Amino acid sequence: MGKPLLEAVNVVKSFGGTGRSPTTLVLRGVDLHVSPGELVAIVGPSGSGKSTLLYCLAGLEACTSGSVRLFGEPISSMSISQLAAVRQQSMGFVFQAYNLIPSLSARENVALPARLARDKTALSRVDVALSAVGLSDFGQHSPAQLSGGQQQRVAIARVLTMAPGIVFADEPTGALDSQAGATVLGLLRGIAADERSVVLVTHDMDAASRADRVLVLSDGTIHEELLRPEPIEILESIERARLKSSTSGTSS
Ligand SMILES: Nc1ncnc2c1ncn2[C@@H]1O[C@H](COP(=O)(O)OP(=O)(O)OP(=O)(O)O)[C@@H](O)[C@H]1O
Ligand SMILES: [Mg+2]
Repeated sequence: MGKPLLEAVNVVKSFGGTGRSPTTLVLRGVDLHVSPGELVAIVGPSGSGKSTLLYCLAGLEACTSGSVRLFGEPISSMSISQLAAVRQQSMGFVFQAYNLIPSLSARENVALPARLARDKTALSRVDVALSAVGLSDFGQHSPAQLSGGQQQRVAIARVLTMAPGIVFADEPTGALDSQAGATVLGLLRGIAADERSVVLVTHDMDAASRADRVLVLSDGTIHEELLRPEPIEILESIERARLKSSTSGTSS
């Protein structure tokens, strides 16, 4: 394992606290790292801050305190344009909703980041990527003409086209049936290799159990780290976290 692609130290995130709105402390000091080639899953109860953590890690949300390093570089030291460039060239996103631009065809959605980056090598991969996700015949369809699983696969084809160093996925299988979910997960599993890593937020224990490491988030901190766990071990860990937070009285 080389140097971490992503490293978070004591990440704190709160919302509100201005004017009359009360402060909600969502992340209370999260430490984590993701090495090249790893698929790391983040699980935890609903509202535990998984999406918030993912956005902070990806630089889509500023953290309140603490540091996030992407490719060895602190996000906070990057200018907006530097961060935008890193996002365009080295980061991929697969979210549950709002993955695709409705007015563009599937193929145009896949090609968009490559086109914006004027990256000819990436552009030459568009059709290979569409075929890799099984959508060669759907390139001209608009997102509205695709099923949820097909839309997720378009988002993954876009990631395959750009071949970014790190992919952030938030509930990518949430809306899918088990077969479509397994397909999407297999594609993400395939991306996490060599120098490329995937950070996956999921409620799906079967999905999480395919990760190299599973981080259990509870009460704003990483409660436990599990190495290639079985689905039942993940559920048990979440349950332990839930019990701990309900007895410590820190849940809010
Ligand atoms: N922009 C915001 N402003 C205020 N509070 C927020 C904001 N975003 C998230 N929160 C709060 O932070 C907490 C964690 O939200 P988050 O979406 O990160 O949870 P989650 O673990 O992803 O939940 P789920 O599993 O339901 O997706 C929630 O209590 C939520 O209300
Ligand atoms: Mg969420």
